[in-house]
Amino acid sequence: MSTRVIVGGQWGDEGKGKIVDVLTQDAHVIVRYQGGNNAGHTVVIGDQKFILHLIPSGILRDGKICVLGNGVVLDPVGMVKEIDGLLARGKVLDGRLFISDRAHIVLPYHKEEDAGAESQADAATKIGTTKRGIGPAYTDKVSRKGLRAGDLLAADLKENLTTRFIQRNERLAAAGMTTLPVAETVEVILAAAKRLAPFIADTTVMLHKAIRAGENVVFEGAQGTMLDVDHGTYPYVTSSNASAGGAASGSGVPPNRIQEVVGVVKAYTTRVGEGPFPTELSDEIGKHIATVGREVGATTGRPRRCGWFDAVVARYAMMVNGVDWWTVTKMDVLDGLKVIRICTAYELDGKVIENMPSRVEDFARCKPVYEDMPGWSRPTLGVTRYEDLPDEAKSYLKRLEKLTGAPVGIVSVGPRREETMEVPGGIPRKG
Ligand code: GDP
Ligand code: IMO
Ligand code: MG
Repeated sequence: MSTRVIVGGQWGDEGKGKIVDVLTQDAHVIVRYQGGNNAGHTVVIGDQKFILHLIPSGILRDGKICVLGNGVVLDPVGMVKEIDGLLARGKVLDGRLFISDRAHIVLPYHKEEDAGAESQADAATKIGTTKRGIGPAYTDKVSRKGLRAGDLLAADLKENLTTRFIQRNERLAAAGMTTLPVAETVEVILAAAKRLAPFIADTTVMLHKAIRAGENVVFEGAQGTMLDVDHGTYPYVTSSNASAGGAASGSGVPPNRIQEVVGVVKAYTTRVGEGPFPTELSDEIGKHIATVGREVGATTGRPRRCGWFDAVVARYAMMVNGVDWWTVTKMDVLDGLKVIRICTAYELDGKVIENMPSRVEDFARCKPVYEDMPGWSRPTLGVTRYEDLPDEAKSYLKRLEKLTGAPVGIVSVGPRREETMEVPGGIPRKG
């Protein structure tokens, strides 16, 4: 039996989807534990590209069981679309996909509120959300007003939805936001609920049975540590616990049953949406990284902001997640650069600090302290064995290990499964 959390160590889009796909060869069950269809996880298999938003990336490997845990917020219409997309591409889902009956439902008014708040916000208060209704749905959850997946199975669903839509329309109208046609929208949700009903189950009990039976469980984090509502760059965060702790609360698997945490970081840094980003590059190198790395959001199509690797961020992520080892992705994107910079600390008000300040106003004033490393003498693209990486690339990885305090176990040099290599001795053996 093994239980392993795969978690983003930056601001999301670290390549978690690819790495989950690589690491699920021997897994039985793959669990999403938080977030919703704000996520966009890309997996490239052969010449086929899949972008998953809600369904765990493990669905692409035949026979694996995929679970959306209680910590997820689920947009029923988006979920049906994703299911249909996979069915159209020949994937079998029956008996493989399960939705926690405790997962909260994202309703169309959550999306209106999210989009409405963003369009009404000024430059100082705009978050740059994905407008998928994530924040409002989690707000309803914690204020104990939410609708859960189990409620989609109840006989009174139509009345329940109708009451909610009527009440919420009043609130939307009062806030100057778009109201929704009640009867029509209720019918859309009822139709989606009917499609999803066969997948809804008590996944907590299922997961405990799987673990007792000695099965391997992989938890697929969405977003990243810096977008975690507690540990990230609040308020420029998402509304869930993206960090490893969320795997326990978001699945019902207790912390003492989670054995290993794998952090995923890019060899540089990206961020989508608003919020401070100390190592952001607004020069030609930033543009080069964005172009070579194809840094465009997998969910919203927005360009991702690019910058150097920030070891202060990664060190923080190592600490709050308990990262046992890292996977470093997109090394190939740095191919050809003469100098590669790493931010090792920040300067704030004339002092050098090694940890992130909690207030975003202070974080925004942090200036990166850089260390320069030489670029590699030949490309990493096409390399399949760690031993064959250029020496400068190995030195860079060694430096990241030293600065973050965790070893690098896997290196990725392209979007495909086979563009991945294990670092000999890099993955600590537990037990
Ligand atoms: P996720 O949200 O963490 O799953 O990451 P995304 O899928 O949003 O973004 C990562 C992007 O980088 C995707 O387009 C991947 O196909 C791609 N990718 C992943 N690993 C590598 C890599 O090592 N090199 C390159 N060039 N692309 C990669
Ligand atoms: P994956 O799983 C990158 C960002 C948004 C915005 C902030 C809040 O693909 O790594 P939200 O819609 O969640 O309320 O938006 O979080 N964001 C992501 N950025 N990758 C993601 O997911 C993200 N999910 C949300 O851009 O800044
Ligand atoms: Mg993504």
